[in-house]
Amino acid sequence: MSKLNLSTRFTLILSGVFLVGIAIGGTAYWRALQGRAQDEITTQGTLLIETMNAVRGYTSNNVRPLLADKIADSPQFISETVPAFSARSVFENFRGQLNFSTYLYKEAAINPTNPVDIADEFEADLLNQFYSDESSAEVSGYRDLNGENLFYIARPLKIGSESCLECHSTPENAPTSLIATYGDEGGFGWELNEVIAVQIIYVPAEEVFNSALQTFTLVMGIFLITFAIVILLINFLLRNYVIQPVNVLSGLANKISADENFSTELESTALHSITNRPDELGNLAQVFKKMAVDVYERTVKLKEQVKDLIIKIDQIRRQEQVSEITDTDFFNTLQQRAKEMRNKGKSDETK
Ligand code: HEC
Repeated sequence: MSKLNLSTRFTLILSGVFLVGIAIGGTAYWRALQGRAQDEITTQGTLLIETMNAVRGYTSNNVRPLLADKIADSPQFISETVPAFSARSVFENFRGQLNFSTYLYKEAAINPTNPVDIADEFEADLLNQFYSDESSAEVSGYRDLNGENLFYIARPLKIGSESCLECHSTPENAPTSLIATYGDEGGFGWELNEVIAVQIIYVPAEEVFNSALQTFTLVMGIFLITFAIVILLINFLLRNYVIQPVNVLSGLANKISADENFSTELESTALHSITNRPDELGNLAQVFKKMAVDVYERTVKLKEQVKDLIIKIDQIRRQEQVSEITDTDFFNTLQQRAKEMRNKGKSDETK
């Protein structure tokens, strides 16, 4: 880590923070989305099953009493007076609409009046569950059916009133028209308060979860792109506003410490543009430049003084060498003799 440069370090730290953030935030968001998708499916299922119960109630309470006399006399059974029939018919109409074809509603029984209502293995298991646990009022979950992932809500259907037994106790008690239409095999032998069927609604789960996944991908995508832009921008700003100016200053400092000529650097536009900046680095550069100028001027002056000193020392040294020769006794006697000889010569000429 110590050898990494500033922008790499920033990128690594920010990416680390981002990854941890996206892991925690993403997980929380995904869970929230899944929870919401689950809530939506559950609401849909509950709404539909309650609607079917309302249809059943309407048939029992409003339609059947009106047609009670006709059922007894009519040679043809009037299925419209049966709650299970009306619920199934209404739901078929609902399924006929676009978008709802994958929804399913069933009142599944082991021994149904209408063979289409026969419970499959899965539904039979649910039914057994309701038989054995009377307190259980609702079970929900997921199952794959015809290649679709479906969410289901299942409730036990009980023989809730005596009126049900008019048709579901024994074939002898049932209207003859019912036997003529449905036969005397299924839908009999049921008792009051007995769980006889499982009322189950299937809601397609895939679409809801797919749309949750889409939302998740979109939000995470925006998050990722934003962060990538932030990292790139920070790198760019760091390079332009911090690293590049610092490099210029450290280049200058290097030249000063190596005692190289740095007068051109002092006048360079790169340094100028930094000292002109109104921020902290601009301030630092101004102080640094002033110092560098001082150092430069002092060095020039010092060099001149040293040159003068060397000249002076040279002169003194030469003088010393001269006087070293001239101050010796030998030289003095030599001088003395030369003088005497010159005087002698002069007196000889005058003779
Ligand atoms: C008038 C006779 C009649 C009455 C009353 C009646 N049913 Fe039925 N029931 C039928 C017939 C006929 C079917 C088959 C309808 C169809 O074609 O789906 C049926 C179907 C059902 C089914 C679906 C499973 C199957 O057997 O096909 C359930 C569950 C059911 N009835 C329960 C009840 C309950 C609970 C009541 C009392 C609230 C009730 N029935 C009252 C005649 C009746």
